[in-house]
Amino acid sequence: MTFDPAHDARQTAEAVAVIRAHTDLVPELALVLGSGLGALADEVEDAVVVPTADVPHYPRSTVEGHAGQLVLGTLAGTPVLVIQGRVHLYEGHDARAVGFPVRLAHALGVRRIVLTNAAGGINPAFGPGTLMLISDHINMASANPLAGAVGEGETRFPDMSNPYDESWREAARRVALELKVPYREGVYVWTSGPSYETPAEIRFFAQAGADAVGMSTVPEAIQAAALGVPVLGISTITNPAAGLDPTPLDHADVLEVGRRVRDQLSTWVRAIVAETRPA
Ligand code: HPA
Repeated sequence: MTFDPAHDARQTAEAVAVIRAHTDLVPELALVLGSGLGALADEVEDAVVVPTADVPHYPRSTVEGHAGQLVLGTLAGTPVLVIQGRVHLYEGHDARAVGFPVRLAHALGVRRIVLTNAAGGINPAFGPGTLMLISDHINMASANPLAGAVGEGETRFPDMSNPYDESWREAARRVALELKVPYREGVYVWTSGPSYETPAEIRFFAQAGADAVGMSTVPEAIQAAALGVPVLGISTITNPAAGLDPTPLDHADVLEVGRRVRDQLSTWVRAIVAETRPA
């Protein structure tokens, strides 16, 4: 779908103006929370909550487990924007709309982004409850938030050779070791959803080198790359991917496992934020 870059920038500016009317806090880091991972938002100090429904041009969020709100405040001494209102392709939004929260975060001042998600485990060693640092991704959704005219401040052909910032990942590994947070590292594959994958698709992705599968994160990482914003990605593995377990996949299980490991995820992310603060 095409768009007019001036119109696009105006929409972002109108959204920024509404948020600025709530708070003049300039977030340095954004944290995008996946299904069932909302607990981190409760740890934000001096929190100002803005429902995404009050933010002009913010695409409607319709998924159970996604609160549809922005939380601005301080986490581990860092001014943050927590996004509990992720936009998915499967909700019927076009790919450009899926990148809106990242463009909004950037326009608010954000200069690095942590993306979290719930994902199915393809690697048989990555069972439910595993935290996976995302090392790289595969885009199987045939969509891209940069399609169309070049948006303001965006690179036309962004380099994607380091989509999940290597030096930030190194810091995340160090923090995990210090805190004894068990984690794995692997490749995330993006499918458009909303149907889960078939066993044949999962075998195909496994052969392609994927460790986990989900319906988010990749478009946001691409949008961030176009704006020159470094990304860290963490998946919570909530279920074995299709065909790896006899139990049918169910969104309720995804939410339940997310809740089970959220404390570990919160501890890890908070420490990453604390230890990687810019000087
Ligand atoms: N597939 C796709 N998305 C998901 C899954 C899955 O198995 N689990 C959680 N999100």
